[in-house]
Order: sequence, then structure tokens, then C-alpha cells
Amino acid sequence: MADMVYKICLLPGDGIGPEVIGCAVEVLCAFPIQWDFIEGGIGFAEYQRSGSSLPDETLQKIRSSDATLFGAVTTPPNISHYFSPVVRMRQSLDLFANLRPIRSIPHASSRSGIDFIIVRENTEGLYSGIERLEDGGSRAVTERVITRKGSERIIRKAFDLARQTGRETVHVVHKANVLRQTCGLFRSVAIEVSKDYPEIVMNEMLVDTCAMELVRAPEQFDVVVTTNLFGDILSDEACMFVGGLGVAASGNIGADAAVFEPVHGSAPNLVGTGKANPTATILAAAMMLDYLGEEQYADRVRNAVETCIAAGQSTPDLGGGLTNGQMTAVITTSLGNTLKGNRL
Ligand code: NAI
Ligand code: MG
Repeated sequence: MADMVYKICLLPGDGIGPEVIGCAVEVLCAFPIQWDFIEGGIGFAEYQRSGSSLPDETLQKIRSSDATLFGAVTTPPNISHYFSPVVRMRQSLDLFANLRPIRSIPHASSRSGIDFIIVRENTEGLYSGIERLEDGGSRAVTERVITRKGSERIIRKAFDLARQTGRETVHVVHKANVLRQTCGLFRSVAIEVSKDYPEIVMNEMLVDTCAMELVRAPEQFDVVVTTNLFGDILSDEACMFVGGLGVAASGNIGADAAVFEPVHGSAPNLVGTGKANPTATILAAAMMLDYLGEEQYADRVRNAVETCIAAGQSTPDLGGGLTNGQMTAVITTSLGNTLKGNRL
């Protein structure tokens, strides 16, 4: 709705984060939508400034916004007591669903006919954070925690997404033949939840089979839902068939907050060169438009990005010769043209 005002929290972060966020904001501003942007600090530069990589003030800004767009952060490996703010942000805000769309792009490096979403549980499983050393340090244990509540909300999210986007199947990916308790619970909750969605076919697949099928025939998937570690691995595997890090976007969705971000990191080697592909962040902004209920604008962004890439007008990672600013200008110009043609 064009008369709405959306309050958006921008978290540029470190490295190429501010550049790619700037590009996505230009794209958002091409639409007749009123944006109220606020900015929050996150990452290593924020830590050097304020002593925290994720100040409470930033969490509060995220909570008070309709949605958040996050760039990337640098996590230096050698500073003790410094932790990446990314996991803490997901846990503090209970952003339980990690969405990774896997969609073909019109480019030689991408396979064609692929269009699915991986829905990864983002708060429990093997990333429970419950770890210990036993036996004088010669035995290490991590607890894999799966709850009925955590399973039900992620599986429902997957089936709701399938319903909303008109997809026919949901693959529930697990390893219940070996992890009989944890994956067994996840699986039985999936079977219960699927009964509420009679028009959608639920397929079960073991995680190792899924890893293989993603390489053999990725076109077969519509929605994949799985636990935390499996989803982390499968989503990185899958994005390599559809353009890689320069174009991979994700969303972290909770009950009261949502944070959209490119999958890539802060790419210190590209800072200031103009070579950082803005597409991943622009597609994250399109996911944010979907979340806000502005699906028509989201589709327009995706179409403009595809047109731009198909014309070879891209940053060097996709073989083109444009800077990120020039690529963004091509995208906003094509959006401007479609807006003039079809008044929304
Ligand atoms: P990275 O994703 O920053 O870069 C990996 C490779 O992809 C590099 O060759 C880089 O030049 C390239 N690349 C990344 N983004 C690109 C883009 N938009 N366009 C074209 N090429 C792109 O991962 P890396 O190098 O392992 O980590 C760098 C820093 O980022 C580290 O401090 C790491 O901790 C952090 N990181 C942060 C993440 C986040 O903020 N969510 C995720 C991953 C890493
Ligand atoms: Mg990952």
C-alpha cells in the first residue's frame, strides 16, 4: 500500500556492509513508498566505538522497527572475548526461521529451472550452545536440543510459506534413522503439522540423500525444512548452483522482528573498490518487501535484477565491468521505467 509508512532499521556494519546497504536503500527509494529509516550500530567498528558489537540500543531499534536490513560484520579471529554479534542477534530476538531462497539467475554460472526455499531452524539443534569437556578434556560433548515448540513453529512456517507462494511440496529433511530421539521428534511433529495442510504434499528425505539430490536434481524441490546445522550446510551447498555469494540473500524471521541480510560477509578485500556485488543485499531488500506485504514491488525488484544480470550489466564476480553503484543505477532505472509503464 503506497500510503503506508514503514520504519526500517538499517545495520550497515563493517567492510562492504555500508556500500551494499547504500545500494539497497537506493532501490527501495525507487518506489512510491514512504520509508522512515533509522540506523543501528553492529560489528567490530561498533565494538571499538562503544565496547559492544551489538549494543542493547541496537536491539531496541530492531524491535521497534517494522523490519531490519543488515549488511555484514567483520569478526577478527584473534581478539579474545570478542564474539560475532550475528548469533547473539538471532537468539536475543528469537529469530527462529532462517529463509534462504534458491532461485536460478539468467547467467552462465547458474543452473536453470531452480526455484525453492530452504527453511532452517535458527535457534536450537546442534547450535544449542550447550557444550562441555569431560574426562580431563579428552571427551567433548555438544547437546543437540530439539523441542516440540521449536519444531512445530519452524515446520508450520514452511507449510505456510508453501501455501502462500502456491508451492506443492514440502521436503522434511532429517536423519531419524540414526538420531532417533532428536530427529524422531522433529519428524513426528512434521507428520502432525502436515495434516493441517492437506493440499500440500509432505516428502521425507534423509539429510545425506538431500545433499546428493540437491546436486543431482535441484529442480525437484519447492520448500525444504530442516534443523539448524543441516540447514546451514544445505543452504550454502544449494546457493552455488544459482550464482553464489554475490547474489545469495536470506531472512531471519521471528514473532516480533525480522532481519534481512546478504549471505556473504564483510569482504575486506573488496572495500572501496566498487567490486562488491550489491545484488545479494538488493534481493534481501526484496524479501523484506515480501515480508511487509509489498509482494508486487518485491517481484519488480527481482525482475529488474534479472534483466540487469541477463544483459551482462554486473560487477566483476558475474563477469561484468560495472561498479556496484553503476549496477544499482541500471536496476533503479529499469524499475523507474516499469513504474511509469504500470502505475501501481
Ligand atoms: P566473505 O563472504 O566476506 O568473502 C568470501 C569471498 O567472497 C571473498 O573472496 C569475497 O571477496 C567474496 N565476496 C563476498 N561478498 C561479495 C560480494 N557482494 N560481491 C562479490 N564478491 C563477494 O567471507 P570471508 O572472507 O570468509 O570473511 C570476511 C569477514 O566477514 C570475516 O571477518 C568473517 O567473520 C565475516 N563474515 C560475516 C558474515 C556476516 O556478517 N553475516 C558472514 C560470513 C563472514
Ligand atoms: Mg553459513
